[in-house]
Amino acid sequence: MDPKTPSESFTEMTELVLPQHTNAIGTAFGGVIMSWIDICSSIAAMRHCGRVCVTARVDALEFKAPIKVGDVVCLTARLNAAFRSSMEIGVRVEREDAMTGQRALCADARTTFVNLGDDGKPSPVPPLLSETGEDRRLAAEAADRRQQRRAGKI
Ligand SMILES: CC(C)(COP(=O)(O)OP(=O)(O)OC[C@H]1O[C@@H](n2cnc3c(N)ncnc32)[C@H](O)[C@@H]1OP(=O)(O)O)[C@@H](O)C(=O)NCCC(=O)NCCS
Repeated sequence: MDPKTPSESFTEMTELVLPQHTNAIGTAFGGVIMSWIDICSSIAAMRHCGRVCVTARVDALEFKAPIKVGDVVCLTARLNAAFRSSMEIGVRVEREDAMTGQRALCADARTTFVNLGDDGKPSPVPPLLSETGEDRRLAAEAADRRQQRRAGKI
């Protein structure tokens, strides 16, 4: 399998917060944001593998600031690391004021997706080719977290 860079699978997604996405106080419902995080990262995983991938895990999900009805929500997903059949993906969620264009980070998370073969079993993913120092740093940190997960420490 040919290696792929993080930029080849980088995914941006834009949503508009409508009344049906909100809770009783007019801010975005956490479960809706979680589903957008899942969709955005699954697109990045599929772009990397060229196949359907499934969510195995969500880590470090934090809602840092509320998102209001009428806000534009900009999500980005980028592969931090590719392992054997799994990938760690970092997701950022920003609120954008459509009038001013001003953006603020509202949530972030790390997801793990697994590539499935035709038999429905985990199947190898293409290696991730680090191009920059930042790519290498993110991949090394993800590898460290994977060790900790496997050791049951996180
Ligand atoms: C994710 C899933 C395919 C893993 O299958 P499995 O038979 O346990 O496979 P394995 O134990 O061989 O693990 C396969 C890979 O997934 C990783 N993995 C499995 N469970 C994981 C978890 N909870 N967190 C992080 N990584 C996980 C393993 O570390 C391994 O990674 P590697 O191949 O890169 O080393 C299986 O648990 C599953 O189908 N879960 C349900 C997925 C789902 O329905 N998602 C929601 C809808 S998309």
